[in-house]
Amino acid sequence: MALWDDLGGDAVMGPLLRDFYARVAESPIARLFPSDLEQTFVRQFAFQSEFWGGPARYTPLRGHPRLRARHLPFPIRVEDAEEWLSCMRAAVAASGMIADQREQFIERMRQIAMAMVNTY
Ligand code: HEM
Repeated sequence: MALWDDLGGDAVMGPLLRDFYARVAESPIARLFPSDLEQTFVRQFAFQSEFWGGPARYTPLRGHPRLRARHLPFPIRVEDAEEWLSCMRAAVAASGMIADQREQFIERMRQIAMAMVNTY
């Protein structure tokens, strides 16, 4: 499994996730999110860092991830997960992440996104 540093660490993932939420804000799934995405960005950055074996920033901030449970208040359909992924694909494409890591990163995000679907 790729590690945080292989993905480019803070220097790549910070700007990538900022760009991701800028795209989310302009997408049809924006309606699910708070209008100010700053805290969402901070939590996502902390999660990704911990998930990929970088600094464990999420647990001290928010506790156990329980990602599916945390997403249950939001009705997420397959189309919403696809939209989330398309924002993430675009952000990866525009990022400094090295080409070799991109496919694996996206695939892992795809798996998690599909696990968040809770509305059919
Ligand atoms: C499938 C489409 C998805 C939708 C529509 C979605 C939507 C949301 C929404 C509305 C929030 C609440 C915003 C906030 O608390 O500031 C949220 C929080 C969060 N999402 Fe997602 N999400 C999706 C997929 C994912 C995926 C794939 C991941 C991880 C790779 C993820 C990680 C997180 C994290 C870490 C938080 C913050 C949780 C917290 O600490 O409260 N989400 N998401």
